[in-house]
Amino acid sequence: MSTNPQGTALDANSTKKERVAIKPVPPPAVSTAFLLLRGAIAGVTGCPIGGGDNETASSMMQNTYIKDGYPSAKFSVYLGKKNGTACSLFIPSSPEDEDTVSCSYTQNQVLDAIETAANRLVSENIPIHNFRMDRDEAISKYGTVMLDQGQIKPPKKSDENQLLDLAFLPGVIFASPPGPVLSSTGQVGTIVLERKTKGYDSSISAGKKAKKCEITIKFRIIDSSTMETDASIESKLETLTAPIQLDELAPLLSTEIRMIEGILLMEKQKTLQDTLVTPPMTKLVILEKKSEDEHAGEEDMVVNAFEVKGKIDYNKLVENFGSKLIDSALIARIERLTVGRGTVPFLHRFLRRNIFFSHRDMEKICDCLENNKPMYLYTGRGPSSSAMHLGHLIPFLFTQWLQQAFQCPLVIQMTDDEKFLFKGIYDDESGDNLDYYAQLTMENARDIIACGFIQEKTFIFSDLNYAGDMYPNIVRIWKAVTTNTVTHIFGFEGSDNIGKIAFPAIQAAPSFPSSFPIVLGAKRDSTAACLIPCAIDQDPYFRMTRDIAHKLVTKLHPLGGKPALIHSKFFPPLQGAQGKMSSSDENSAIFLTDSAADIERKIKEHAFSGGRETKKLQEENGADLEIDVSYQWLRFFLEDDSELERIGKEYGSGKGEYWSTSKVKTKLIQILQALVSEHQERRLQITDDVVFQWMEVRRLQ
Ligand code: TRP
Repeated sequence: MSTNPQGTALDANSTKKERVAIKPVPPPAVSTAFLLLRGAIAGVTGCPIGGGDNETASSMMQNTYIKDGYPSAKFSVYLGKKNGTACSLFIPSSPEDEDTVSCSYTQNQVLDAIETAANRLVSENIPIHNFRMDRDEAISKYGTVMLDQGQIKPPKKSDENQLLDLAFLPGVIFASPPGPVLSSTGQVGTIVLERKTKGYDSSISAGKKAKKCEITIKFRIIDSSTMETDASIESKLETLTAPIQLDELAPLLSTEIRMIEGILLMEKQKTLQDTLVTPPMTKLVILEKKSEDEHAGEEDMVVNAFEVKGKIDYNKLVENFGSKLIDSALIARIERLTVGRGTVPFLHRFLRRNIFFSHRDMEKICDCLENNKPMYLYTGRGPSSSAMHLGHLIPFLFTQWLQQAFQCPLVIQMTDDEKFLFKGIYDDESGDNLDYYAQLTMENARDIIACGFIQEKTFIFSDLNYAGDMYPNIVRIWKAVTTNTVTHIFGFEGSDNIGKIAFPAIQAAPSFPSSFPIVLGAKRDSTAACLIPCAIDQDPYFRMTRDIAHKLVTKLHPLGGKPALIHSKFFPPLQGAQGKMSSSDENSAIFLTDSAADIERKIKEHAFSGGRETKKLQEENGADLEIDVSYQWLRFFLEDDSELERIGKEYGSGKGEYWSTSKVKTKLIQILQALVSEHQERRLQITDDVVFQWMEVRRLQ
């Protein structure tokens, strides 16, 4: 022990001497991670930081050891005597017998939430108050809240001056840690929970049949810059007297689910209960309750992978889906990593204007970029008709910018299989039309290529051709996802063809780098992170993917295998800024094949106007910009912020050059005519041979 810089501290504390199991003393990053995880369990599940003999006390942290260069450790938190009643969050009984009827999340999702919460605490870089106190004095002052099960027994030589090292993180944890602790959470690195590969990994035992209800966490730390002891700790311990106020401990002793990750799980449960009381809704449908006469004529909001209608409340969507809104801090970080590196001149207008508005784990993608860790982009298109419209371009325009900004590989999935399974036909005379969808892939690929991707970094593939390479991963996903889960997410019925039920795995597979052994040169142990730009209606596929992702990657993957997502709002149809455009209604969309005259006519005749009935009223009140399609479309396509602002001001107030609908429409027509004709010119250059080049299985740069 004398070689340990903390030797004196440990010798002075005979409580620590009892912890003979811990040899050597865990690195400070591990002790700190332990505190964060213990705090996260409390905050996510509402299981109070017990303390000593309290029934929810933590076990002491078990042997840390270094495996593959990464330190790891293990501990358990007991959830109370009666089936885990000390914990407020309902935890499904067992992974095998996850009852989708009574709980909409799984044990693994609870572990995910704990892991996410702990890593969030790391990213928030919270200072930790470390101090040392006489054991008896500490107990008389604070009770036993800070002691784990192994620490409750008084030390044997009771005549000695017993000192206790203590660490306090407001709202998170108060504990006597297993070894020296860092002075702030930011230096911990990434905390990864080890999952169910062997018997002794992180697990939850809960439910009526369980003998003992507890959460066992086995974790390791990667990316830590501080495996060494923080030299400042020792001095801090001596100088920091900052005694904690008793009321600061109250939240730690409460059974409240305090952390957002736990609240999201509860919300999921609520959504499930709402859907259960309205039986006919088998799909993932979000209905807003409102009094009937108040909103007569407004359709209910429905958003799922197959249907989008009604007025979309995006904040509600984010809340229901459990994704995160993109905030200004994240935008600033993305700006530093793109514009700041000189790869693009400015942030894309879709980010500046909140059109891409929600995300999952985008921070972790930023971490990868900051640390020069590998990442790639994945997006896709279901080729349902040869005519693509402006709405279809949104994710591709943004993906093109992301590729330029990050200078990274991109894979584009064409789900001709999906469209055949969902929309294809079979006729006794003429057979089926699978080939038709394969051909649409070629047609649509032309429009996608015309968006200006970097050819050496882009692979476009048809599922019908390429699925073989992804097949091992598809099989793994099939094995990991139950029929109950897909049915619950996508609302399939017994009468649906079996391909539909199998399809979500095909859309999930490209989220894993090992689906591209040649294209990305990725082996099974690849740690490349995947970012998926898409419209928010595709999120259900990737929620499913994220739930099982850890089963397909190495434990060292920085996102636990989960693809990150960045979600866009819908591009509104011409006739009204509600819902999404549809290629089946000719007048609801501008197609990429439309002529300048078509564009002019459609906008003049069909673009829904938020302007007032008469000139006088318009001049007095101005237009309602929210519902005005021309203005909303300008938000998507007019690059110049100051011009857009000016149009908004003038049109919204009925004064100035853009006072009327027709002036605004004229502006929009000009912009779209230019955009569509330039697109058509580029598309014309793209021969079949060119398409084949983009679709060739080859190593991307
Ligand atoms: N299912 C999508 C569609 O119908 C196509 C798709 C496949 C996709 N993979 C994707 C879209 C990834 C976005 C991201 O259009």
